[in-house]
Amino acid sequence: MPYLPPYPPRHAKAPPLRELFRLAKQSYLSIWSQGTFNQDVIFTRVLFRDIVVCNSPETVAEAFVEQHEIFQRKSPQHRHALKPLLGDGLFVSDGSLWRERRRVVAPVTHATRLAELAPAITEAAAERAAAWRRHPAGEPLDVLAEMGRLTAEIICRTIFGRSLGAESAQAVVAAFAEYQRLVDQTDIVSLLGLPDWLPRPLGREARRAVARIHEVVDRLIAGILDGGRQEASLIRSMAEAKVPGTDRPMDRRAFRNEAIVLFMAGHETTANVLAWALFILSQDQTSAARLRAELEAVLGGRPAMLEDLPRLTFTRAVVEETMRLYPPVPVLSREALAPGRIAGRVVKKGSLVLVVPWLLHRRPALWDQPDAFIPDRFLPGAPRPSRHAYVPFSTGPRICTGLHLGLAEAVLCLATLFQAVELRLAPGVEVMPVARLTLRPGESLPMLLTASAGASA
Ligand code: HEM
Repeated sequence: MPYLPPYPPRHAKAPPLRELFRLAKQSYLSIWSQGTFNQDVIFTRVLFRDIVVCNSPETVAEAFVEQHEIFQRKSPQHRHALKPLLGDGLFVSDGSLWRERRRVVAPVTHATRLAELAPAITEAAAERAAAWRRHPAGEPLDVLAEMGRLTAEIICRTIFGRSLGAESAQAVVAAFAEYQRLVDQTDIVSLLGLPDWLPRPLGREARRAVARIHEVVDRLIAGILDGGRQEASLIRSMAEAKVPGTDRPMDRRAFRNEAIVLFMAGHETTANVLAWALFILSQDQTSAARLRAELEAVLGGRPAMLEDLPRLTFTRAVVEETMRLYPPVPVLSREALAPGRIAGRVVKKGSLVLVVPWLLHRRPALWDQPDAFIPDRFLPGAPRPSRHAYVPFSTGPRICTGLHLGLAEAVLCLATLFQAVELRLAPGVEVMPVARLTLRPGESLPMLLTASAGASA
């Protein structure tokens, strides 16, 4: 029997509005009743706003691909939570500005850059694996926080270059963590349907965190662009790219905003996948043994490198199946810029249009044993899921620009860490998903580590 990882209890019927708000405050994973998992599309209204949930490959394609022009704008909740930090950055912009930035950022995070950037991933993962091997056996380690630190280090090194000092990396990571803690992501004002121009108060502490992040990032960018550091980095690649239709590079503010977008978009997602995978493997002995056998055969104790990827097929399947069950971005939300049409019904301007990978990836009509962990679904030769049924990186023109980078990073890190140590969940710990902008296995993940025999990583 394949392992069944945990998820919040499902209601038989849709909860009443008051209960819905209470549940949403805890975790919006618990608001979905059993029946919603098998619906093609859900039309509903919360207070003054129409909400459409696209839950079939066809309706996902209608909204995110075919009518991208209408449904390209991020929801007010996302924009208002992130704009103070990202400014006009790609992640929260739309229209011609989004197109312009996308044409600069997408090529520098594309799969073709992996060869340049992968050594930073291998190095950081090997350093962490070595530290884990030295960790005292009986002392629980928060593996979620560890994965956050590792992926933050990796994205820092890829954005700013491998020679970025540990102190600068720590300053960036700490300032971001503080911002995320301070910003309230459930923007009730927008849900109530009030206009976009209405100011959203940002607390003094959050404003200070933003100022600190901007200052640190500006300093790092100046170090690269004015100090003439020539090593491979995403900032250097962006500096070499021209704004489409001109012969000039982006201005400094745009560099800063896009660097922050890459940091935000490119690290917590991967951290959550890794933490979930390590937790699931600690519970599923069969998959853990299969993974160890693959790592022994392919790596034989050394850290994983880019060239190993084609042979790490089971490791990749574990990562992909983990992202199916625990999509790092559990809700993709948009606001209709104009009237559109989904499943034959008119969608009014201003409606919220959602794709919820949490629902879609567990839809019984699309997946056999949808709640079970079965990495075999993603092994070479297995029938691939329909393109719009599996969307951990979103789909359509706004698809994640860093998907190849993120996937490669998750596989290389999982391979290197998993062969270095054996992990067990610390006694008494119960894991339950927590959904914010990303989906994590609780607030922390305390695990016990024992060095594996024979691994040199
Ligand atoms: C496992 C790792 C990752 C996952 C699961 C992931 C997932 C996603 C998702 C779902 C979106 C779309 C969000 C939405 O539509 O609301 C997105 C956007 C984006 N991601 Fe990723 N991501 C990952 C890693 C990365 C990495 C490593 C980078 C860059 C180095 C990156 C850069 C971006 C950017 C720039 C966008 C904005 C694209 C746009 O709006 O046009 N991501 N990502």
